[in-house]
Amino acid sequence: MTATWWSHALFYQTYPRSFMDSNGDGVGDLDGVTAKLDYLAALGVDAIWLNPVMVSPMADNGYDVADPRDVDPLFGGIEALDRLTDAAHRLRIKVTMDLVPNHTSSAHPWFQAALAASPGSDQRERYIFRDGTGPGGIHPPNNWVSIFGGPAWTRVVEADGNPGQWYLHLFDAEQPDLNWDNPEVFEDLEKTLRFWLERGIDGFRIDVAHGMAKPPGLPDMEVIRAEVLLADMDDDPRFNNDGVHEIHRQIRRLFDDYPDAVAIGEVWVYDNEQFSRYVRPDELHLGFNFRLLRADFDATDIRGAIENSLAAAEMVGATPTWTLANHDVDREPTRYGGGPVGLARARAMAQVMLALPGAVFVYNGEELGLPNVDLPDEALRDPVWERSGHTRRGRDASRVPIPWEGDAPPFGFSDNPDTWLPLPPEWATLTVDKQIADSESTLSFFRRAIELRRDRPEFDGLAVEWLDSPAGGLAFRLSSGLVCVLNAGRRAMALPDGELLLASGALVDGKLSPNTAAWLV
Ligand code: GLC
Repeated sequence: MTATWWSHALFYQTYPRSFMDSNGDGVGDLDGVTAKLDYLAALGVDAIWLNPVMVSPMADNGYDVADPRDVDPLFGGIEALDRLTDAAHRLRIKVTMDLVPNHTSSAHPWFQAALAASPGSDQRERYIFRDGTGPGGIHPPNNWVSIFGGPAWTRVVEADGNPGQWYLHLFDAEQPDLNWDNPEVFEDLEKTLRFWLERGIDGFRIDVAHGMAKPPGLPDMEVIRAEVLLADMDDDPRFNNDGVHEIHRQIRRLFDDYPDAVAIGEVWVYDNEQFSRYVRPDELHLGFNFRLLRADFDATDIRGAIENSLAAAEMVGATPTWTLANHDVDREPTRYGGGPVGLARARAMAQVMLALPGAVFVYNGEELGLPNVDLPDEALRDPVWERSGHTRRGRDASRVPIPWEGDAPPFGFSDNPDTWLPLPPEWATLTVDKQIADSESTLSFFRRAIELRRDRPEFDGLAVEWLDSPAGGLAFRLSSGLVCVLNAGRRAMALPDGELLLASGALVDGKLSPNTAAWLV
């Protein structure tokens, strides 16, 4: 593993629509992020990952890209991105963007041209159009379902006014899947990557990086499963097909022209050997390993997640990555049981994550201990809600805007009380301003932890050695000397010898309480 800027970096995921609204339209934007860079610098972040800001009808909050080489006016246009990149670089913060190569928006000129063209045309060959099955082609070409619910195929009306072919969309019908067997698709991605890299972007988080290649013949699914983000899907024909690795090699060859830029894949693949393929020396630099995020608050589960993540990276000499939250999953305090216990566990898990070797990803609001928000039906915006016929509420609960200051919603997020998702009044105690003023707050805890991780040499080690610990506990030592202890059990635990650097909660009689972690040197 060679040292690169990302090999021990702390990436901060900014969900732009929910971070800070600078123009009062109720939706966060890029000038909003720029306005809060000092906050991010004080938190100690090395890099920002921006969820998609390219031109988009926003059917899936920007994961439906209509022009990959421009920034949507909703986020302030391309000049706002330039302002953000310049200001971030002055603070030595890198800026990485989301890249969506698996699909485009249905509003993309390519898809519009495909709709206007006839079956078999070059225009249709950029996507995955097929004739239907059954009499007159009334049934979809295969039994695949969309991740967001409903079928993964939508039928189009041909120029003669009759129902015609079907096109594939693993997500929303407004996100048609591209045909990666068509060389034009990579040629266009190459243009997009060079466009942003030349403009000073420091890398990309590659959306659905296990999804671009489709299996020959598009065979039926044996097990019908819509939701895959948190499920084991190693047998799912829609994802992780071998052809995807040649695509990553092509992408990597391009990145090699920009040796300071990082490619990070969203890889929902769990088998260690299968996962490791994505981060071979000639593929992605980093891949999100979601095992820690999926682990229950249970010592055996957590240790297993850490061991497997390390093992997968080790197989190919890659940098391990760690993440507990993002815009697609429930926030940790909620996942770990809610209330004060959920929050205590979230802090403890953050401390475990920040001790591990490799790159870490923190999702905006994680540093404030924000929980999920129970939103009323009419507030829901995620396409999952509609596509699932109101059976799945979707991901809005973890996308609510950041509370910055003040005593009432929208807590300084916007001048406009009508924010794209409502902030709950009970977040009055969780605002950034209140937490900065409180040395015991979750934010103060994160700041201290990140500072220690960055400044102390004891955090630099790459090897993890497991130490004995009582049942329900977990303890490991980095080769550089840091000891991390977690109490996921029910009884207070004695701490090992050493100087206590930080604990995620108060000690009781010198012992580590349940739901608490500590660092010692
Ligand atoms: C990824 C994104 C998710 C998006 C989907 C489709 O899983 O993280 O938010 O809906 O891809 O682009």
